[in-house]
Amino acid sequence: MGFPDFVCPVSEAGFDSPHFRNVMGHLPTGVSIVTGHDDVGPAGLAVGSFMSVSLEPPLIAVSPALSSTSWPAIRDTGRFCVNVLGAGQAEVARRFAISGGDKFAGLEWRHGPSGAPILAGAVAWIDCTIESEQVAGDHWLVVGAVVELDLGDPGDPLIFHRGAFDRFRPADPI
Ligand SMILES: Cc1cc2nc3c(=O)[nH]c(=O)nc-3n(C[C@H](O)[C@H](O)[C@H](O)COP(=O)(O)O)c2cc1C
Repeated sequence: MGFPDFVCPVSEAGFDSPHFRNVMGHLPTGVSIVTGHDDVGPAGLAVGSFMSVSLEPPLIAVSPALSSTSWPAIRDTGRFCVNVLGAGQAEVARRFAISGGDKFAGLEWRHGPSGAPILAGAVAWIDCTIESEQVAGDHWLVVGAVVELDLGDPGDPLIFHRGAFDRFRPADPI
């Protein structure tokens, strides 16, 4: 019996990438847009991998894929801004989850303290300088030193859970 044409990469632990993705997808995450601005213009990508790391000093982390086409341009500026999307911004998330094209066309945004774009409608923004970057498998693990941060539009955040966009709902609806 032959092997199928496509075999998913299997880790040494004996499970494949879809299983890893499926299990990890049961952890809901926020959805953020990591932005930067170089001489050419604004750049950004959607990430679920945004976390607070340290309070003193204030550090956060994001994890762009090695294959990201936007991260290299953002990295070269030494700075980035994390925009935490609101519950009504799934379309913005989709737009920044595609490589190429002018992702900022028709979008309202302003320069943050570092120059990186702050997107209108984001519930929070966190402006950073790059503290460190290391390869972690097929992603970078980027630690950012927070320079400035603030709340944006009031409201609930956008959530990604089990492969779909979602929002907070009352756990025990009346
Ligand atoms: C909810 C959600 C979470 C994502 N999280 C990440 C992430 O943490 N890291 C990453 O590199 N890509 C993530 N992506 C995929 C990127 O947004 C996507 O690969 C995008 O095309 C990258 O754009 P770029 O090539 O312009 O960098 C996520 C996409 C979605 C919809």
